[in-house]
Amino acid sequence: MSRVAVVTGAASGMGLAVAQHLAAVGHRIALFDLDGDGATQAAEELQATGVAAAAMKVDVTDRAAVDDATERARRELGPVEIIVTSAGFDEFQSFTDITPAAWERMLAVNLTGTFNCVQAAIPDMLAAGWGRIVTISSSSAQSGAARMAHYVASKGGVVGLTKALAVEYAPNGITVNTIPPGFIDTPMARRAEARGDLPNIDAIAARTPVRRAGTPDDIAAACAFLCSEEAGYITGQAIGVNGGWYL
Ligand SMILES: NC(=O)c1ccc[n+]([C@@H]2O[C@H](COP(=O)([O-])OP(=O)(O)OC[C@H]3O[C@@H](n4cnc5c(N)ncnc54)[C@H](O)[C@@H]3O)[C@@H](O)[C@H]2O)c1
Repeated sequence: MSRVAVVTGAASGMGLAVAQHLAAVGHRIALFDLDGDGATQAAEELQATGVAAAAMKVDVTDRAAVDDATERARRELGPVEIIVTSAGFDEFQSFTDITPAAWERMLAVNLTGTFNCVQAAIPDMLAAGWGRIVTISSSSAQSGAARMAHYVASKGGVVGLTKALAVEYAPNGITVNTIPPGFIDTPMARRAEARGDLPNIDAIAARTPVRRAGTPDDIAAACAFLCSEEAGYITGQAIGVNGGWYL
């Protein structure tokens, strides 16, 4: 069955792969991203294969912009019944160097951005009596991570938000799960490696039980399953995709 999926952070990395995987199983895709050109390019590539897709340049921290983009998705593609929230950013700072402004920005994008996008979309799911929500959190919210207190706190908030919504909306046919990725080879991870914030990717792969870095497709495959009809009895779960690290 073809449904409308909003994917945030869809211009790059995991969000892009999620958009491609959901399109491949027949869904119509609204691609939300701060990077409007990247979202447009990704949408055009999907459209070239016959997929109904629409790109929206949107900052997930801007509630009015999120509401507008969701309304446009509804108008152009139909009611939103799936949302995957992958928009986010990382930053490495020792705890004492995290300024109040950096703390606020981190929570605004990673946590409030998730709240904004899910809250804007959920009325359609309630009306349909069916919905799938997948948040992208982080394995660092399970393990902790040095020099990332604001990032880890934001992702811990995403895990809590996911669990609360799962219980609240279970009677409405809506499942809400989170994927806390381990180390995934994306532009974000490559930037962190280039800055020296993360060790060399090959070194991380060697320390990972499955002996490779994760790929955006690893995340997207799990996500596509959680968004499927068959996954209706899975809700409130953190489904780690991490090559055997941590948990
Ligand atoms: N790569 C990893 O190893 C890893 C591990 C754990 C969790 N994560 C999380 O996975 C998610 C996806 O990360 P990725 O590695 O694919 O990164 P990425 O940088 O490749 O993609 C993130 C996308 O989010 C968009 N974005 C950022 N801020 C935004 C905003 N305010 N509004 C709208 N869009 C915004 C960016 O433009 C980008 O296209 C992030 O939430 C990240 O924190 C990544």
